[in-house]
Amino acid sequence: MSSFDLFKYALVLLLPAAYLATRYLRSTTPPASSTSSTVEEKPVKSIMQAPRDDLAPPKMIPLTLAQLKEFDGSDPSKPIYVSIKGTVFDVSAKADVYGSGKSYNIFAGKDGSKGLGMSSLKEADAVPDYSELNDADRKVLDDWHGFFSKRYNVVGRVIDLPAVVKQEREASSENPTPAANL
Ligand code: HEM
Repeated sequence: MSSFDLFKYALVLLLPAAYLATRYLRSTTPPASSTSSTVEEKPVKSIMQAPRDDLAPPKMIPLTLAQLKEFDGSDPSKPIYVSIKGTVFDVSAKADVYGSGKSYNIFAGKDGSKGLGMSSLKEADAVPDYSELNDADRKVLDDWHGFFSKRYNVVGRVIDLPAVVKQEREASSENPTPAANL
């Protein structure tokens, strides 16, 4: 095979991959650093689901991490919950991505804040303690919190987060930053 043929095959393989990656990255451009509800989001063509305007008022059901596990999509008769920084979202409407065996089931039935901040789909990273994240990853995490807040009903709050995360939450509610979005 000539090097020109190799070049052609590389192009055929790389171009679609580059196209998909660009679309995905563009579509996940942080939507929510500005939390001002008076600022309209620009209508960006996205492969991500659009924000909703029919969300229910947040509920504040207290849940332990052990209770949260029941809502990991393994029992189709129960809703599916994802917690981010202790805020519990009902993601049942997206069972096609969070349900058992689906791509983002790793975040279901738990608080996987650290993994979301790191953009990691590793099981070991999907844990609540995000205290080791650097500033950039914390911003990614806050943007995910903003993303979920605009698309999923809040049903509760995790009450037994690791101590270190609890402290951070308390500190940020004493001194709230716009990006925290909590
Ligand atoms: C090349 C790598 C990736 C591709 C092509 C990709 C693709 C996608 C697509 C197509 C969606 C929209 C799904 C839907 O609404 O049905 C999506 C959503 C999402 N992705 Fe990824 N993804 C990638 C990597 C990641 C990684 C590393 C993470 C880890 C944090 C991640 C987390 C998410 C989350 C949380 C959603 C939101 C689903 C929702 O609730 O609407 N993705 N991704």
